[in-house]
Amino acid sequence: MWCFPVIVLVLLVPWSSAVIYKLNDSEYLRMPPLYALDDYPACMARGGVYCLADVDLYTDQPSELMTLILEFSADTLKHFNHTQAHRGVCLQKSCKKYLNESRDLQEGTADLNATLEACLNESFWDQYELQAKLANVNYCLQAGEKLKIDISDAVMAVVYLIFILFNVIGSFYDVLKCKKGDKCGNPYLLSFSLRRNWARLTAPATRGQDERLDRLKLFNGLRTMTMICVFFSHTSLVLAFSYVDNPQYIETAYDDPVKQILFNGSLVTHTFFVMSSFLLAYNLQMYRETHTVSWVQWPKGMLMRWLRLTPVYAFMLASVSTWNRHIGSGPLWPLVVGSEAAACRRYWWAHLLYVNNYVYDDALCAPSTWYLAADTQLFCIGLLVCVLARTPRAQRIALGLLFLVSLVIPMAHTIVQDLDPVVMQAPEKYRNLYASDATFRLLYVRGHTNLSTYTLGLAGGFLAYHWQRAGVDLAQYRKLRYPFWLVFPAGVAIILSGGLFYGDGQQTPAVYRVLYATLYKPVFQFIVVFFIIGCIFKLESTYRGIVEWRGFTWMGRASYCAFLLHTVFQRGLYGSQLAPTHMSDYAIVTVLSATIFLSFFAAVPLYLFVEAPIAQLTKAAMAPKPRHFENNMAAAAEAGDTHGQSKL
Ligand SMILES: *[C@@H]1O[C@H](CO)[C@@H](O)[C@H](O)[C@H]1NC(C)=O
Ligand SMILES: *[C@@H]1O[C@H](CO)[C@@H](O)[C@H](O)[C@H]1NC(C)=O
Ligand SMILES: *[C@@H]1O[C@H](CO)[C@@H](O)[C@H](O)[C@H]1NC(C)=O
Ligand SMILES: *[C@@H]1O[C@H](CO)[C@@H](O)[C@H](O)[C@H]1NC(C)=O
Ligand SMILES: *[C@@H]1O[C@H](CO)[C@@H](O)[C@H](O)[C@H]1NC(C)=O
Repeated sequence: MWCFPVIVLVLLVPWSSAVIYKLNDSEYLRMPPLYALDDYPACMARGGVYCLADVDLYTDQPSELMTLILEFSADTLKHFNHTQAHRGVCLQKSCKKYLNESRDLQEGTADLNATLEACLNESFWDQYELQAKLANVNYCLQAGEKLKIDISDAVMAVVYLIFILFNVIGSFYDVLKCKKGDKCGNPYLLSFSLRRNWARLTAPATRGQDERLDRLKLFNGLRTMTMICVFFSHTSLVLAFSYVDNPQYIETAYDDPVKQILFNGSLVTHTFFVMSSFLLAYNLQMYRETHTVSWVQWPKGMLMRWLRLTPVYAFMLASVSTWNRHIGSGPLWPLVVGSEAAACRRYWWAHLLYVNNYVYDDALCAPSTWYLAADTQLFCIGLLVCVLARTPRAQRIALGLLFLVSLVIPMAHTIVQDLDPVVMQAPEKYRNLYASDATFRLLYVRGHTNLSTYTLGLAGGFLAYHWQRAGVDLAQYRKLRYPFWLVFPAGVAIILSGGLFYGDGQQTPAVYRVLYATLYKPVFQFIVVFFIIGCIFKLESTYRGIVEWRGFTWMGRASYCAFLLHTVFQRGLYGSQLAPTHMSDYAIVTVLSATIFLSFFAAVPLYLFVEAPIAQLTKAAMAPKPRHFENNMAAAAEAGDTHGQSKL
């Protein structure tokens, strides 16, 4: 007798919690569009009110369509949540019937909310026999209302003028007073000389200093390429953060191996950590040849790094919070661009202290800069290790211990907090910029969880240094070229392996999850370190010829500025759309090319007017008399390291 209800349950449960993994187009299009926007210019022209709102769909009666929507949305890994629709509504057009013209709409939001809800409900009812409940009103834009220019904008305008003025004065001073390249005149004014800064930007990788520094020129190429990969991964992310008219494109992308590179490509970002720590270890060893290193170098190194990274970063944050808001408009502008300005006004301090990856979760302000914060935190540890571990033996022990700890940390996090092995790029997650994704927040962006790749870079730096001193000649081990040629395919294979976790309805055993979470970053970056060392010791010349290309020299130097600029362009593009964007492979390639071109193109003036002058200014202020320490470090920095990473 008792088994009857159980059988009923067994029959019922899979049915009621069914998940639809795939739908053909005709079925898919039965669902209401996820995003839709009324005509914005027409609405503004007739003096209307335009609201951007999210509504939750539901039914009182059983509805076949609602079941379809629920079951399709239940696949949270690959599908958007189609029970919530996102709409831009012109009240005067779509909600005319419900509008009480004799009342001022802006007076009471209760009235406005009720009007919106009633009219959206009606439109969903008419077309789909679904009801709609207002979930969230992002904002309402009134025709003729413009964002006012406030005090912060005015202050920023003055800052722009000051920079331009100083650059003009500095340049004229240089041209009139100094013959080319001479050491002459006031170093503070000369910092602003465009002529000198242009020469710095375009100079060859090394200018006749230590021959060993010449071998570091691969870093410009590696940095530029990594940067382009980062642009690539952000191209589609920012798009998904905005309104798109074919969310199927994203929802089906998971089955395409080429696009899996995009989803798991975030692995490449950690190359920045490796480059940074490699140069730190290498440069400090070189410095040690002529100096005794004491613990004083620790706070000093951190101060120098802060001074090197922060001015142009602060400049960009301030620009994003002020004038960037004003340069466009449209129904999506406040959502895509305005939201960043508001968030940066709130959290700028966390960015300038490089703790933004720990202190807040709604990562709307410059989300990609988590890596700067993590890198700075790791730099504190790395510098301490480099300063304290003097002998090769001490370095081996310290790095061994550090590496062990760095493997235990992500392992413990994954087990204790029950995290995913990789950041699962679920559509709803990146629609919210990962604000609620524990794996991203707790594992991916934190400093201490990225220690493993940083330690590998340190080890690579020490190894390269000691091998160079010992005169190791790798070129004679010709067999090593074969694994070296495998670097690229192996890297791609590791990136693609993340796709293993995107199987439909799959439950990965915890052991594999934990192992993967612990190992995938160090394994990938081990390959990168192998690549760096192979290039430094001229193992072969095909890959090396590419990364050491002369054209990468200036791009590497400008890459920090380009990094700070790229999301501004991407957000600007999507934020100024008047209709939901149509996604396609072609669109992504176009946007990526535009991002690369615009970012590096705009990075040049940013470098010339802001980054380089302030870097020279701090150098002049910190070292009134030229001292070997600074010169040596500056040379090393120019050879490879333009992010200021590892620059003491
Ligand atoms: C789509 O799927 C539905 C239900 O599975 C089916 O009835 C319909 O014929 C399919 N349409 C096409 C064009 O394949
Ligand atoms: C979809 O969104 C609605 C409303 O925000 C929420 O109640 C529901 O749990 C979400 N569905 C899934 C599968 O996450
Ligand atoms: C419109 O608003 C006015 C003022 O609040 C009110 O007197 C009037 O009854 C409203 N008309 C409708 C149709 O709701
Ligand atoms: C109207 O919507 C806004 C935005 O979602 C919300 O803050 C406000 O509380 C709502 N008002 C009422 C009366 O529901
Ligand atoms: C939505 O519209 C339907 C049909 O007109 C109506 O029965 C229902 O009460 C409405 N729901 C809301 C929340 O207004």
